[in-house]
Amino acid sequence: MRKIVLYIAASTDGFIARPDGNIDWLQDKKYNIPDEDFGYTAFLQTIDTTLMGHNTYKEVMGFDMPFPYPDLKNYVFSRSEQADTACVSFIKDDVVDFIEKLKEQPGKDIWLIGGGQLNSVVLNAGLLDEIILTYIPIILGKGIRLFSEEANEHKLKLIPTENKLYRNGFLQVRYSC
Ligand SMILES: NC(=O)c1ccc[n+]([C@@H]2O[C@H](COP(=O)([O-])OP(=O)(O)OC[C@H]3O[C@@H](n4cnc5c(N)ncnc54)[C@H](OP(=O)(O)O)[C@@H]3O)[C@@H](O)[C@H]2O)c1
Repeated sequence: MRKIVLYIAASTDGFIARPDGNIDWLQDKKYNIPDEDFGYTAFLQTIDTTLMGHNTYKEVMGFDMPFPYPDLKNYVFSRSEQADTACVSFIKDDVVDFIEKLKEQPGKDIWLIGGGQLNSVVLNAGLLDEIILTYIPIILGKGIRLFSEEANEHKLKLIPTENKLYRNGFLQVRYSC
C-alpha cells in the first residue's frame, strides 16, 4: 500500500511556523548550500499526491508565486465549504475516512505537507507511515507545533540509514511511525 510521508521542517524546539504562521526563519538565505536541496527533488519523485490543512494552504497561497505543485493531486482539508481550484480539491468529509480510501488506491506515496492540526489528525488515526523531519538550528520559543496539542503519544522508530547532518546545521532524520 502507498505510504503517507510527512516531509517537513521544524525549529529545534519543534515549531513549524511562528504564531502568526510566518516561516521567514526557514527561508533565511544564510542556510543556502549551492546545489543542495536537502532531498526535496528526490522526495518529489516518490509522491504523486499532497495533503494540506486549510491554514497551510492559505499560507502557501500567500507566497508571491503560483501554486507550487500543479502537476500533483492536491487535497486541502477544511470544515467549511470551499470552491475547488484548477490545482486543488477541497475535502470537507471525514478526513480519516477520506485518507484511508486514498491509501487503498493505487499510486505513488502521499506527501502530508502539514500543518500541525492535520498532522495530529493523521497521526491519531494511525495513518502516518513515515516522517522525514529536518530540524533547523533555531529556537523559536513559541509558534505552531509540528503536531498540535490534540496529538496522542506515539513512539517512533528511527530509520538509521536515512539521517543526514548538513554543513549549515540542518539535521534531517527519518522515522517510521
Ligand atoms: N515548516 C514547515 O515545513 C511547514 C509545513 C507545513 C505547514 N507549515 C505551517 O503550518 C501552519 C499551519 O498549521 P496549522 O496547525 O495552523 O493548520 P493546518 O493543519 O495547516 O490547517 C488547519 C485547518 O485545517 C482544517 N482541518 C483541521 N482538522 C480538520 C478536520 N478534522 N476535518 C476537516 N478540516 C480540518 C481546518 O480548516 P478550516 O478552518 O477551514 O475548517 C483547520 O483550521 C502554517 O503557518 C504553515 O506555514 C509549516
